[in-house]
Amino acid sequence: MKHMFIIAAAAIASACISCHPTQTDDKNGSNPVIENIMSRRSIRNYRPAAVGRDTLNKIMECGINAPNGMNRQSWEIRIADTPEAMESICESMVQANPDIAPEIIKGCFRGAPVMIFIANDTSYDCSAIDCGLLSENIMLSAWSLGVGSVCLGSPVRFLKNSEKALETLAFSEGYDPVICIGLGYPDEKPEAKPRDISKFRYIE
Ligand SMILES: Cc1cc2nc3c(=O)[nH]c(=O)nc-3n(C[C@H](O)[C@H](O)[C@H](O)COP(=O)(O)O)c2cc1C
Repeated sequence: MKHMFIIAAAAIASACISCHPTQTDDKNGSNPVIENIMSRRSIRNYRPAAVGRDTLNKIMECGINAPNGMNRQSWEIRIADTPEAMESICESMVQANPDIAPEIIKGCFRGAPVMIFIANDTSYDCSAIDCGLLSENIMLSAWSLGVGSVCLGSPVRFLKNSEKALETLAFSEGYDPVICIGLGYPDEKPEAKPRDISKFRYIE
């Protein structure tokens, strides 16, 4: 009898370890993860309120828990979360790109009060994918905490031109800026842009 009990307890314990519970609420069918994914939109108007470091740390921890090739974590991340840090990087970019109007360069950050600069390891062919997955974890976890985001490719070319901005960001040798993410509390509620469901199909 005692043996039977031990075997049953072990079976229950192993079942609990191996399965991850569904997050769908049986009563109303809602699922917070799917709702979070489906309601996230790029935010390009922000309230000036700062995002606290506790919140940012949580978001960044979610970011670096993204799946990544061989767990090489082939990314480097720098965070500008003060007006002074943002201004210093913007100014360096403006100085390094005299042919481009300063408003265009500053505008490419979309007014986000926090800017995350992500660099990839140029010697590793999966690194850009790693950085993409990191970025999505950042944006979705931020959204789940009420923080809006926008993924930004356009600042990268201005950054790459600017020795001073790159010096400030101080990425390691062999790492190049690949994407930026703006974060902040949203001051708009954009509609979802249409998606093309013909982009996926099953192999019959
Ligand atoms: C790699 C990448 C680069 C992007 N670059 C910019 C950018 O430079 N400026 C911008 O306003 N939005 C940028 N976006 C945001 C896209 O425009 C946006 O994700 C897309 O239109 C879908 O809208 P949604 O995010 O609201 O669903 C970028 C998104 C990605 C993934």
